[in-house]
Amino acid sequence: MQVRITSDAPASYATGALVIPVFADKRLDGIAAEIDAALGGALTDVLESDEISGKANELAVVHAKSAPYRRVALVGLGDRAKFTPQGLAKFAGTAVRTLGKRNYAALAFVLPGEAQADTLLAASALTEGAFTATLDGTTYRTEPDKPVVAHQVAIFAGSFDRAALDAGVARGTAIGEAVNFARLMALTPGNDMTPTHMAERAQELAAEAGLEFDVLDEARMAAKHMGSLLGVSLGSDQPATLSVMTYRGDPSSKEVLALVGKGLTFDSGGISIKPAEAMHEMKYDMCGGAGVIAAMYAIGKLKPKLNVIGVIPSSENLPGPKAMKPGDILRAMNGKTIEVINTDAEGRLILADALCYARELGATKIVDAATLTGACVVALGHAASGVMSNDDAFVERFLKVVGDVGERYWRLPLYDDFDRQIKSDIADIKNTGGRPGGAETAGAFLKNFVADVPWIHLDIAGTAYLDNESSYQAKGPTGTPVRAFVALVEDLAKN
Ligand code: BES
Ligand code: MN
Ligand code: ZN
Repeated sequence: MQVRITSDAPASYATGALVIPVFADKRLDGIAAEIDAALGGALTDVLESDEISGKANELAVVHAKSAPYRRVALVGLGDRAKFTPQGLAKFAGTAVRTLGKRNYAALAFVLPGEAQADTLLAASALTEGAFTATLDGTTYRTEPDKPVVAHQVAIFAGSFDRAALDAGVARGTAIGEAVNFARLMALTPGNDMTPTHMAERAQELAAEAGLEFDVLDEARMAAKHMGSLLGVSLGSDQPATLSVMTYRGDPSSKEVLALVGKGLTFDSGGISIKPAEAMHEMKYDMCGGAGVIAAMYAIGKLKPKLNVIGVIPSSENLPGPKAMKPGDILRAMNGKTIEVINTDAEGRLILADALCYARELGATKIVDAATLTGACVVALGHAASGVMSNDDAFVERFLKVVGDVGERYWRLPLYDDFDRQIKSDIADIKNTGGRPGGAETAGAFLKNFVADVPWIHLDIAGTAYLDNESSYQAKGPTGTPVRAFVALVEDLAKN
């Protein structure tokens, strides 16, 4: 897909369909009013017929056979007073996905006047939504679902600032591509998406985005005393990998943001094996890692003034003959000893060493993302990711920055009650704290490996994949937390 800005007049533009926003007040203004007049009031007619109420993500098609654009799609944007630029992602996604499946190869978007509030962000969101709408999850079918064919997307420049529109399209393209890369990695099943393959994808995307790349094999992990990450991999024939993607956007600065992502390519639970019912979903247990790889790609493309490293520990949790057992004690890179109570609490074990390694690489701030706990899904459902932190200022800034990126985040506390819950009788800590506060005890566990570096933990277990399809997105992986990572990096780069 290609998204571009055009200075041409909509009334004479040849395309598959003009896409025109409609708010719940059904008021047509600017270009929309012009097109309506040119079509003898055909848009007003459809609006008055109540075929479309202007609610977000509704769509109605008006035929305009003799006009160069041939069709007009009215797409709902909801309440005008509640408009935000990011809302254009779902708006564009609905148009691209719905019309693209009906064989419209080219679409041309009219921006609402409200987009003047932040033209760059509006163009970025629209572009991102157009990209993410095209992806389908049926790549392994011999006959995949009807594809989304919208390859050519244009946005009318009108009276908008051209430079802001162009910058927005570049940003939205990088984010949209990145989100789709993350989703495609997640869709790849465990037999293909091994830890080795995950490192290969990280290497490929690093090369495409001009990033440095390194990968630790198990021998190098052993030399670094990463007993916790290695412990998880004992039960599998697939060797663990630890990928590092490096972006040097501000060489004169010592500040380094580390993005760390759980890359569990399949989580059976290990010896503490999971019930069969939903075990297949655990191919998605690498979504945090995929999100880091994809965000690093977007960062390499967007070139913000900030040093960022992506650290992706990848492993497979299986109950093979050498598997770690409940009661085993592992020693992490920082020397802390961990009593393994439940081998299914493996994500925190691979993250422990990755967090230590991020610090060794010079991280002065850390954000990790992981499909870490079912408890977080119980607490927040699929509506928001859980956020935990050891630094109020950093996490408050994060929450402000990601307030409107199209992903939701909600803070959970890390009281020292949770530290007490994971004290071990025999070792420094244990890897589970029982059922109460399951998301928070996982966060409290990770806190042991970040020392005094400002750190944010994102539990994306409920948000990394969804089992329902929407008008703008296929079911399955969502690309969370790529958008949040990019927005945070851009914000930190500003000051
Ligand atoms: N990958 C799972 C968490 C998960 C659950 C992600 C559901 C997505 C959906 C994680 O490794 C896990 O198994 N966590 C355990 C921890 C428990 C043993 C303390 C859990 O949440 O049950
Ligand atoms: Mn597990
Ligand atoms: Zn897991």
